Amino acid sequence: MDLAKVRDEFPRLLRLLGGEHGAEAMEWMRTLSEGHHATASPRVVAEATRLGWVEGSPPRVTPLGQRIGDSLREYLYWEERNRHLPRRDDVPELRAETYRGARVLEIGSGFGCNLMRLQEFADEVVGVDIDPIYLALGPVLANLAGVEAPRTLCARAENLPFPDDRFDAVLVIGALQYMEIPVALREIARVLRPGGQGVFVLGHLTGYLHSAFVPNARRSPRAFARETRDLLAMLTYPKLGRRLSKPGSPVYPTRRRATRYFEEAGLRLEALRDLRDETAYIVRR
Ligand SMILES: C[S@@+](CC[C@H](N)C(=O)[O-])C[C@H]1O[C@@H](n2cnc3c(N)ncnc32)[C@H](O)[C@@H]1O
Repeated sequence: MDLAKVRDEFPRLLRLLGGEHGAEAMEWMRTLSEGHHATASPRVVAEATRLGWVEGSPPRVTPLGQRIGDSLREYLYWEERNRHLPRRDDVPELRAETYRGARVLEIGSGFGCNLMRLQEFADEVVGVDIDPIYLALGPVLANLAGVEAPRTLCARAENLPFPDDRFDAVLVIGALQYMEIPVALREIARVLRPGGQGVFVLGHLTGYLHSAFVPNARRSPRAFARETRDLLAMLTYPKLGRRLSKPGSPVYPTRRRATRYFEEAGLRLEALRDLRDETAYIVRR
């Protein structure tokens, strides 16, 4: 199984990513997982093939390799922003220092780059993610970064393994769009203490329309069909749920609709920060 592969290969993974060819391997996997062509030295290709990240010739990413590439992209982006949380210059609630002494939960934490920063200040930090492979990479990448591996749990946002009123703050950064939004928000309201703060960074439908349906952009008929189907799924989501969307496809609600989801879950909107392609919603239980 892929998960066992990641766990059992921990030392080998670390040797590859932390060794002489580490930077090259990371950049290569990031590029391949974004669907672009890239080449790497024979040693890196051989090692990535052995680890089950790529297969065939020319090498194509496997499902495991896709997750490795996703995590490496997040890791490299975290390093590029000097290990801060994303969007901290525009959203004061994304400055890790503001969580000093707090009990913080991040949902959809991936391998845990945001947790690695938050744990410097918060009293307690926990990450939850649905995907065990991303979580298993956490200790590898923390080791590489020379920081303590954050505490994480494999669980679904829609069914959180915590008692009521457990956290002072919940962060969901670039992940709510993959969840059953109303169900996840009710769970978040439940585990937040009264007066606790929620921070959500989320794309919105208008932003999706601008990026997906750029006038005159050259796109394959297949990509056009996929984007049209995704759009239909987003428009019908409030009535039909995910019935029309493919598993793993994002649902970006309008800002007005997102605000309604928060309110229906018992989360009062305190501030909305316009990040152009995304929105940061600050809510209070
Ligand atoms: C784009 S990543 C964001 C990672 C991280 N928050 C960051 O800022 O780098 C979205 C994450 O949400 C997770 N996810 C998707 N659906 C989920 C669900 N229902 N419950 C928990 N996590 C989920 C995915 O596995 C993935 O790790």
